[in-house]
Amino acid sequence: MSESGSQEPAAAPNGSSRPRPPVGNRVTVVLGAQWGDEGKGKVVDLLAQDADMVCRCQGGNNAGHTVVVDSVEYDFHLLPSGIINPKVTAFIGNGVVIHLPGLFEEAEKNERKGKVFDFHQAVDGVQEQQRQEQAGKNLGTTKKGIGPVYSAKAARSGLRICDLLADFTQFSERYKVLAQQYKGMYPTLVIDIEGELDKLKDYVERIKPMVRDGVHYMYEALHGPPKKILVEGANAALLDIDFGTYPFVTSSNCTVGGVCTGLGMPPQNVGEVYGVVKAYTTRVGIGAFPSEQSNDIGQLLQTRGKEVGVTTGRKRRCGWLDLVLIKYAHMINGFTALALTKLDILDVLAEIKVGVAYKVDNQTIPHFPANQEVLHRVEVQYETLPGWNSDTSAARSFDELPENAQKYVRFVEEHVGVPVKWIGVGKSRESMIQLF
Ligand code: GDP
Ligand code: IMO
Ligand code: MG
Repeated sequence: MSESGSQEPAAAPNGSSRPRPPVGNRVTVVLGAQWGDEGKGKVVDLLAQDADMVCRCQGGNNAGHTVVVDSVEYDFHLLPSGIINPKVTAFIGNGVVIHLPGLFEEAEKNERKGKVFDFHQAVDGVQEQQRQEQAGKNLGTTKKGIGPVYSAKAARSGLRICDLLADFTQFSERYKVLAQQYKGMYPTLVIDIEGELDKLKDYVERIKPMVRDGVHYMYEALHGPPKKILVEGANAALLDIDFGTYPFVTSSNCTVGGVCTGLGMPPQNVGEVYGVVKAYTTRVGIGAFPSEQSNDIGQLLQTRGKEVGVTTGRKRRCGWLDLVLIKYAHMINGFTALALTKLDILDVLAEIKVGVAYKVDNQTIPHFPANQEVLHRVEVQYETLPGWNSDTSAARSFDELPENAQKYVRFVEEHVGVPVKWIGVGKSRESMIQLF
């Protein structure tokens, strides 16, 4: 990871003899480029071998990131995946919403600041039920309380970790007001106010030694000695609250802007931005999915790819790679390179389709549509590439890949205009080809 951790000398801006303040260390960012589950955990684990600090900046335990090391499978939801490297400091920034019992359970299970309450998760469930009853369809959320807790943050009634630690009496008052508001809105909701407050009180002493002032901590990490800092995006571009397939999205910014707002970090500290792209497309939950294959191909991808949600256990919907989406994600994120994962899943196909354009009413449309009705109506224009019909899982260099697999990778690069830096050919840490 020579690209991160570099300190730059102060440079004079054009026409001025005054030096600019130093930028400090640059962070390397890993982001999902589709609808999630692209293999971000695996890419972060790889980069974390050489990192000092790994950060989460947004989302909560709706994320499910898998890392496989020595045949042991770890799943991370709130903790950054890079924590497997014992030398790495894990940092969970202000943009993340935390369910404290979930955090401790996860830390214990894998052994070795916004705040989600149990009632946020209950409200998520009730809201989904109401959507189903009132509008005939729900959003298909993970029911981790993500929507309700980010809504409370925006409504300025949310509670933060610093509130929990400052004064428990005041915290309890505000907690009760929030709980009463929800009870008013959802009369069937059962909230064990005293029970949850007791549990939270127990967490105060446990969490205290782990809490830092995020802005200062990050500033020191950026401006102290050279450090390799990684940011692990959760969820993905098409689930972004602003740029995703709204309203079938999550409630945070999963694109590059969320890195700055979720860590208290200036944009000039963003260095490499790696987009993680699955070699085909999957989506969990409801919403438009233009390249979805509700047929044998979709079934094959689902089975071979073991496409089952890490957080909810739901089967993931599957379809062809859609480069219209990836180009759109690149416009927002400015990817400096891509990691193309799960190429091995395509090994058995005689031919492979790749979505390259959208048509609506027989007209090619110039942009990825913001409107979901339009997105539902698009007809994907595909290029058909020949398959390679052979096992790629043992390949460890680009040259070892069959020619048609190489062509597939080059096609993605050329079409998106971003180099592919890694190719995934299996679950394990070793099953990754690095191109440069
Ligand atoms: P994340 O949410 O982006 O971290 O991805 P998930 O962990 O939810 O889903 C990705 C799944 O694919 C996990 O089960 C990974 O172990 C697996 N995976 C990642 N990369 C590869 C790959 O290159 N090949 C195969 N076969 N599996 C992979
Ligand atoms: P990772 O980090 C896949 C989807 C949910 C649902 C919608 C809203 O593992 O890639 P929410 O609970 O966030 O309010 O749900 O967003 N979703 C994900 N799908 N991977 C994820 O995370 C997801 N995080 C949220 O399935 O459709
Ligand atoms: Mg996942």
